[in-house]
Amino acid sequence: APVMCVVGARPNFMKMAPILRALAEHVPPIPALLLHTGQHYDTDMSKKLFVDLGLPQPDINLEVGSGSHAQQTAEVMRRFEPVLDEHKPSCVLVVGDVNSTLACTLVAVKKDVPVAHVEAGLRSYDRRMPEEINRILTDQVADKLYTTERSAAGNLEREGIAAERICFTGNVMIDSLEASRPHAKPPAQTLQAHGLSAELVGAPQGYGVVTLHRPSNVDTPEMLTRLLGVLAQVSRDLPLVFAMHPRTRSNIERFGLTGLLDPARVAVLPPQGYLEMLGLMAGATLVLTDSGGLQEETTALGVPCLTLRENTERPITVEQGTNTMVGVEPAAILAGVGEILSGRGKRGRVPEYWDGHAAERIAADLWQWLAAPARG
Ligand code: UD1
Repeated sequence: APVMCVVGARPNFMKMAPILRALAEHVPPIPALLLHTGQHYDTDMSKKLFVDLGLPQPDINLEVGSGSHAQQTAEVMRRFEPVLDEHKPSCVLVVGDVNSTLACTLVAVKKDVPVAHVEAGLRSYDRRMPEEINRILTDQVADKLYTTERSAAGNLEREGIAAERICFTGNVMIDSLEASRPHAKPPAQTLQAHGLSAELVGAPQGYGVVTLHRPSNVDTPEMLTRLLGVLAQVSRDLPLVFAMHPRTRSNIERFGLTGLLDPARVAVLPPQGYLEMLGLMAGATLVLTDSGGLQEETTALGVPCLTLRENTERPITVEQGTNTMVGVEPAAILAGVGEILSGRGKRGRVPEYWDGHAAERIAADLWQWLAAPARG
């Protein structure tokens, strides 16, 4: 029976692409089906990334779309159940921490279908983050937990999870990064594709890349005004390329904040494809973000990253990588930028098993696990 591989939202796609390849290249091949819940559905957030990452068309698309957390999670569960009954997979493989991850896990475990969770054990210890709830619950009930950094096992063991369920295999997102690096799009080309001048990324001091989409940063007018104000200030010294999530774009319009950024200093782009984003990050002087994935990708690329959050579930990016948690106080953000621009930015190293081969280790372990007579 096939392994049912589940994706739902943008950060899942770069994790699943190398896993599907590793399952196919395993000797013997491990049969797989790709299921897309449709949590992210538009060209920018989904279709373009499939092409960039070489992901096959999903075998099944649940087309759930957007909604409140309850609606979205419930709708994935409702639509996933008959699919499981029909395909009877050997296991369900989920990645990351989005609503689709938790929804499919819950359905599968209650139907006695084993679940493997990739990127298990990350904890921000901030339960106001919807992803933290998804991570805790998914890890509690999943059968097999593949981790990206060693600290994850400690988090899991503190939650009473048996060590036998945990397997440190490394970071599959970095598999995608390593595979795609040679194909990254030059930043100048990315700006020109949107009718913008390439001068912005050609200045001697370089440019910064910005992404913001966490509800805590963009869902209230106060916080969004504050952060856009900081970006406007940073942009006087360093031109910025802002790849804007649809949530952020619609809030800027809704709160009437469209005038805060100077278009001569900040290039605002729609959500970018994987190869465009990789090219932008690789060439950047620094990255300002609240994303989980970018904290890891900048560490792998050796580019300084300032994370506009109070905590991170990916501590290795701070301990070993190029990431600094600057929070959301303007003075702290500006100080962080100042340090990097004056050449006192952080240098880091690439963590253990972030080597482009994590998915192969997962495939090898999964094969053993699925073959074992007394599983789970
Ligand atoms: C989701 C994940 C988050 C991840 C992020 C990456 C959860 C709880 N959150 O947040 O962990 O970091 O994806 O993007 O699962 N929208 C579109 N087009 C789309 C999809 C969404 O325009 O293809 C807009 C809709 O207005 C929607 C909003 O974005 O309401 C939010 O989408 P949603 O999937 O609820 O969460 P994200 O904020 O994207």
